[in-house]
Amino acid sequence: MRKREFKINYLEYDTHEELPPLEWELLAAAIEAINRAYAPYSGYRVGAAVLLDNGKIFSANNQENMAFPSGTCAERAALFYVHANYPDNIIKAIAVSAVTDNFEIKEAVGPCGSCRQVIAEYEKKQKSPISLILSAKKTKTIVINGINNLLPFHFEGEGLKKH
Ligand code: THU
Repeated sequence: MRKREFKINYLEYDTHEELPPLEWELLAAAIEAINRAYAPYSGYRVGAAVLLDNGKIFSANNQENMAFPSGTCAERAALFYVHANYPDNIIKAIAVSAVTDNFEIKEAVGPCGSCRQVIAEYEKKQKSPISLILSAKKTKTIVINGINNLLPFHFEGEGLKKH
C-alpha cells in the first residue's frame, strides 16, 4: 500500500483587469452571454465562452426547462455547439461566469461534474488540454490548465469504443 497525493495547480487573479488580454476577452464574452441565459426556475444565470484554435469565440448560457433535467448548463450548451459545428478545431479554453439575484456569489463558478466529464472527453479527443477561466462578478478569477486539475481519475471508458 502506498499513500499518494494529488496536487491541483491553478492561477488566481484578484481582478479581471489582471488577466492577459485574450483570457479577459473570453471571460468578457462569457459575462455578456449571461444576459441571454434562460433560467426562470433557478434564477442562476450562467454564461460560457469557448475559444478555438482559429481564434473564434463562441458563447452560450444555461437553458432551463420546467421538466428540470431537460435543461442544460452554459458550459455544455457552448461546448456542444462548438463541437457540432467545428469538430476538427482544437478547443483552447472555456470561460465561465454567473450572476444571481438571490445571493452573492463569493467564489469563482466551477463547472458541474457533468460538464467536467464533457470537457475531459474533448480534451482526450483533441489530445491537448483545455484551459478553464472561472469567475463571477465580485470574486477572484481562477485559471486552470486542463481537466486533470479539476476532475482527476475521471471516467475514460476506452473499452467502449468499437474496435
Ligand atoms: N449551471 C450552469 O449553467 N453551469 C454550471 O457550472 C453550474 C450550474 C446552471 C444549471 C442551472 O440552470 C442553474 O445553473 C442552477 O443550477
